[in-house]
Amino acid sequence: MKTLIIIYHSMTGGTAQMARAAHDAAAASDPALCVRLLHASRAGPDDVLAADAYLFATPENLASMSGLMKDFFDRCYYAALDRVAGRPYAALVCAGSDGTGAVRQIDRIATGWRLKAVAPPLIVCTHAQTPEAILAPKTIAPQELARCAELGAALAGGLMLGLW
Ligand SMILES: Cc1cc2nc3c(=O)[nH]c(=O)nc-3n(C[C@H](O)[C@H](O)[C@H](O)COP(=O)(O)O)c2cc1C
Repeated sequence: MKTLIIIYHSMTGGTAQMARAAHDAAAASDPALCVRLLHASRAGPDDVLAADAYLFATPENLASMSGLMKDFFDRCYYAALDRVAGRPYAALVCAGSDGTGAVRQIDRIATGWRLKAVAPPLIVCTHAQTPEAILAPKTIAPQELARCAELGAALAGGLMLGLW
């Protein structure tokens, strides 16, 4: 059985909703596919090695991926180096107004692992501006969640069809 793993972190809920939408669509697309939704703090090298495809989902914090997402990569990078080359991945980023810093970091780590990007990174901006709005719980709009679902289904479909 093929496995798609979605590793995510979220501080105010936006990324979690995005990751969940991608998970649900991927899981619905093919009952023969195992789709795992795993919080970054609980994901380790064994989870990375056991997966056939990856979706990394993170908030952008201070122009980078969140600290807990970075911690996941720090714990797994060398254990998986040279053991996951060629596997497909995509990224979801929830940001206030940018998101490109987090995307750059994930792409760079994925390049080190020699993963294959199979979809453009998907950035959703919440447009929170004030400290209060930035720290408040987020609700991601249905049309943005639909884009996340589309990405999850595409990643799953390509994996099951052997496209990547
Ligand atoms: C400490 C902190 C730093 C942030 N830095 C950025 C940033 O550099 N660029 C950006 O676009 N948004 C930034 N944001 C906004 C978050 O990306 C945004 O609130 C998003 O919803 C976070 O995802 P989450 O809801 O999954 O936690 C920051 C938020 C916090 C709390």
